[in-house]
Amino acid sequence: MEQNAHSPQAPRLLSHDDLPRLAFPEMNAVHEDEIDLLNEVLVLLPQAATYAEARHALDYRLQALLDHMRTHFSREEELMRQYGFPVYPVHKGEHDRVFAELEQVIADWQTDSDMAALRHYIHEVFPSWLFQHIASMDQVTARFLAEVTQGQR
Ligand SMILES: [Fe+2]
Ligand SMILES: [Fe+2]
Repeated sequence: MEQNAHSPQAPRLLSHDDLPRLAFPEMNAVHEDEIDLLNEVLVLLPQAATYAEARHALDYRLQALLDHMRTHFSREEELMRQYGFPVYPVHKGEHDRVFAELEQVIADWQTDSDMAALRHYIHEVFPSWLFQHIASMDQVTARFLAEVTQGQR
């Protein structure tokens, strides 16, 4: 359960080095940017429990993370459609599910101000989904894209 939500504690930040390296460099760059945004959210979380100004900064960063995800996902989907990735609907389905989930988590946070719920999602659920998604679906997609675009890029 949530421990000591009132005392700011140093967040466990995510590192670019922890990201699986994909065969399609453009995808790696987007994932690194997303990790940076996620880290900014992680840093603001403990302060936002106490200070109103940090709460505004946090809300702004959460929106930036959501916007980044929209661009990240739609670019991957565009590449998959362009080069005819065979299991496009499966990959897109995961994007749609998680985008809707984060959108809902942010909406709930804005309504209920439930810091424990937000922390749980941002610290645990989202990063573990992201790393697992990159290591599986993105990995397979990147290999496919690298192969079909060989000599073109
Ligand atoms: Fe991705
Ligand atoms: Fe993806």
